Amino acid sequence: MRTPLIAGNWKMHKGVAETTGYLEELLAEDVPTTVDVLCCPPFTALPAATMIATGSAVHIGAQNVHWESTGAFTGEIAAPMLVEIGITWVIVGHSERRTLFGETDATALARAKAAQAASLEVIYCIGESLEERDAGATFAVLERQTEALGELDPTHLVLAYEPVWAIGTGRTATAAQAQEAHAFLRLRLAALFGGEAAAAIRILYGGSLKPDNANELLRLADVDGGLIGGASLDVRSFSAIIRAAAVCAAGDTL
Ligand code: PGA
Repeated sequence: MRTPLIAGNWKMHKGVAETTGYLEELLAEDVPTTVDVLCCPPFTALPAATMIATGSAVHIGAQNVHWESTGAFTGEIAAPMLVEIGITWVIVGHSERRTLFGETDATALARAKAAQAASLEVIYCIGESLEERDAGATFAVLERQTEALGELDPTHLVLAYEPVWAIGTGRTATAAQAQEAHAFLRLRLAALFGGEAAAAIRILYGGSLKPDNANELLRLADVDGGLIGGASLDVRSFSAIIRAAAVCAAGDTL
């Protein structure tokens, strides 16, 4: 019912030359049509990426966007600027933006609204820290982080559940932890948008997702794909995850 989305968050990796080589290699593979595939290179590589990927099965997204469309915001990029170069997706509220660059629930929401107003598809990231999980506050944190999402358009929204303790650590949520959080988020989305809309929203898992654990995580009932950092940087491991998603979508097991 929900087409899986496999999204690569390249973070601050790969310039124009590497991006070009990577995408050429990825496009040379048979990307399954049953999975939506997205790559999010750094800003400087986006024009080259869209030139290669536009019209292919691979979508290109940015890793951040500002909430104003123009103005005195040194170092920021506006949604219409991304649209102008053919970008169709954007990641918002990633935990690294929150912990390292002062992003809050309010600024993440403002960025997501501006992105949707410019017709961009939004991947909205949330997730608890280790201290919050250990304190038994996971659901309270997820509730707070999703509180104002009702202001967004659910038809252009993907939620990414990324437990902060699993990002880049090699430590993955267990299948039970992931499904429990995703099911909770599905209920939250139903409260915000109604059951039918919530059933159509994709909820991605993120945090040390790799070929080894992709099958176990991607087959979970409420896991509709992944937001992948480290394992997306290598074409072979990224395409192995894409293939795992296609197999899971077909209701099969590897
Ligand atoms: P990771 O990163 O796959 O390297 O853990 C995921 C993310 O930060 O989106």
